[in-house]
Amino acid sequence: MTTQFPKKLMLLGSGELGKEVVIAAQRLGQTVIAVDRYANAPAMQVADACEVISMLDGDALETIVAKHQPDYIVPEVEAIRTEKLKEFEDKGITVIPTAKATDYTMNRDRIRDLAHHELGIRTAKYAYASTLEDYRTASEAIGFPNVVKPVMSSSGKGQSIVKSAAAVEQAWESAIAGSRGDTQRVIVEEFIDFQLEITLMTIRQWEGPTLFCPAIGHRQERGDYQESWQPSTLSAAQEKQAQDIARQVTDALGGAGIFGVEFFVTADEVIFSELSPRPHDTGMVTMISQNLSEFELHLRAILGLPIPNIDQLGPSASSVILSPEQMASVGFSGVAEALLEPDVDLRLFGKPDARPYRRMGVALAKGTTEAEARQKANAAAAKVSVVKLS
Ligand SMILES: Nc1ncnc2c1ncn2[C@@H]1O[C@H](COP(=O)(O)OP(=O)(O)O)[C@@H](O)[C@H]1O
Ligand SMILES: [Mg+2]
Repeated sequence: MTTQFPKKLMLLGSGELGKEVVIAAQRLGQTVIAVDRYANAPAMQVADACEVISMLDGDALETIVAKHQPDYIVPEVEAIRTEKLKEFEDKGITVIPTAKATDYTMNRDRIRDLAHHELGIRTAKYAYASTLEDYRTASEAIGFPNVVKPVMSSSGKGQSIVKSAAAVEQAWESAIAGSRGDTQRVIVEEFIDFQLEITLMTIRQWEGPTLFCPAIGHRQERGDYQESWQPSTLSAAQEKQAQDIARQVTDALGGAGIFGVEFFVTADEVIFSELSPRPHDTGMVTMISQNLSEFELHLRAILGLPIPNIDQLGPSASSVILSPEQMASVGFSGVAEALLEPDVDLRLFGKPDARPYRRMGVALAKGTTEAEARQKANAAAAKVSVVKLS
């Protein structure tokens, strides 16, 4: 018997990546309930139904799962009560990619230890600390410069590059302030002077082999991505090395769906950094660069639908549109000017309010070379301004 559709998906997290997952799901006639902690979040604007709860609140999750009875729970963010996901999984709801994967990747330490200790994969040298005193010791052991991050954080929050022992105390303060939970645990990492950093979008299927998108190059500032491009300048041998590592780590997590696997690339090494078991922000470039975007691939993998081909359509880039300041209402200017250029497109996320550096949209472009695609995407993003609605 073949599977009957529609299925009901509950999306935990309703940002811009979730919005595209919902659109992909709607196009294939599925039903989606979008969940986030604030109303009118991007994915809610295109979903069949929405719920506003704290996803860290287990009882609240229980209530909405009982109410909607989804076939699939699809996490879009890290900040979720992941023990609850295990309970839902045990009751027969499919958690994407698995409850284990969401649990392992919620904090930086478990996934890092899995990769390094259990699978023997090369990572930056690292150590953990939970007090300032331990942090000093760890920092000396790793050496300078090093990178310190709260174990529980994302988007570069609380992260600093520490150049000498004199800067340790301040880095500790900001790591603790930037930590999402109430733990004080930090990871101290060897600073990798990479030539390129990449995301390898990796697709695990319920049946069928693990698939890969061509690697995506990206540039980060303040811990957030600024621009990404595909294809990257990785050699065939480096691409193969990254794929082998990504397959190994995602096999250990199991399930189905897309994973964003991050690597640092130096002259002679491909170094595993971290992984998110869902679409990746740098992967937004695939909305213009591939026949199937990361969101469409995620959905096909979730639903067990075939993925016969992933075609890369030539040099392509994405560039983010950030808010300059706090805004209680959000508008855009320069949209028509940005779209004047051929092979340029925009996604404006529809976030209801803004704060400094909040990502409000993205420009997408194709070019004849990587340089041209990046230049076009950056120029288009620069033409769009986030403005207070008057
Ligand atoms: N050990 C490191 N060496 C050099 N740069 C790093 C290191 N760790 C992180 N970075 C830089 O900071 C960015 C964000 O760090 P990451 O570990 O990916 O955290 P997040 O979960 O916030 O994305 C990376 O994409 C990279 O540019
Ligand atoms: Mg990252």
